[in-house]
Amino acid sequence: MSEQNIADHYSQGQLERKILNALITLGADPEHLDPDQLATVDEFHIGGRKATVELLDQLELRPALRVLDVGSGLGGTARYLARRHGVEVTGVDLTAEYVEVATSLTRRAGLAELVQFRQASATTLPFSDGSFDRVCMLHVGMNIADKAALFAEIRRVLVVGGGLGIYDLMRVGPGEITYPVPWAGSSATSFLMEPQRYRELLAQARLPVQVERDRRGFGIEALHEVRARVARDGLPALGLHLVMVPDPALKIANMLNSLERAVLAPTEMICLAQ
Ligand SMILES: C[S@@+](CC[C@H](N)C(=O)[O-])C[C@H]1O[C@@H](n2cnc3c(N)ncnc32)[C@H](O)[C@@H]1O
Repeated sequence: MSEQNIADHYSQGQLERKILNALITLGADPEHLDPDQLATVDEFHIGGRKATVELLDQLELRPALRVLDVGSGLGGTARYLARRHGVEVTGVDLTAEYVEVATSLTRRAGLAELVQFRQASATTLPFSDGSFDRVCMLHVGMNIADKAALFAEIRRVLVVGGGLGIYDLMRVGPGEITYPVPWAGSSATSFLMEPQRYRELLAQARLPVQVERDRRGFGIEALHEVRARVARDGLPALGLHLVMVPDPALKIANMLNSLERAVLAPTEMICLAQ
């Protein structure tokens, strides 16, 4: 199954217009966006901004470090990194439409000097060796079959002593997964792996895991909160339902079910480049 099928899963052709229309409905000026207002739509992973903060706080960030966000999506994590930590961020993503939307939202939020995006696959990164001090990757590994190539590329672009923060859905028990889920319409584009296998491949790439955290409980709670809010207030103007088309509710329900049965768990790993 080619990477094109994965990019097709995420592409929709209308995304920027839909996001801007929603922002205008909320009274925002599309030329001067508040990055925090985007957080309900641009953090495309379980637990949203809270999960981002809790992962990145472990990477010992300080101003002027060079950070790569692998599979940067709409750029929420990259903009947060630049604003909160004053780092220079490069986002790389397979889906051309996401790169365009991320670039546009970043310009509209006044962050283009610190944050830029490139279209490329994480398994063939368009950067020279040792270009980055830190790398993060949130909910991307599930789409990448060749994780050995992925980790080799991440290690190549990191400096020795650089940190990698991963927050992926990993397989923690036996059982079927019902598709669609937010990252895949079928099992053909879903490449879930056990934490043990991540650890082995990361060690082989000279990125040994220093800290690991199972976030299944946190994830279940976060997804129940989202569903309760929608049941109470209806869909918000600006939300991930604009991104997860079609069938956002079904994708969330299937994902939540796999967490509740302990088949999958959102898992953090912090690694150190050797
Ligand atoms: C669930 S989204 C997460 C986006 C972002 N990290 C976030 O948390 O908001 C998965 C992202 O991974 C990207 N992706 C999938 N396979 C990729 C690959 N081989 N190289 C780069 N990006 C990839 C997709 O295009 C998509 O933007």
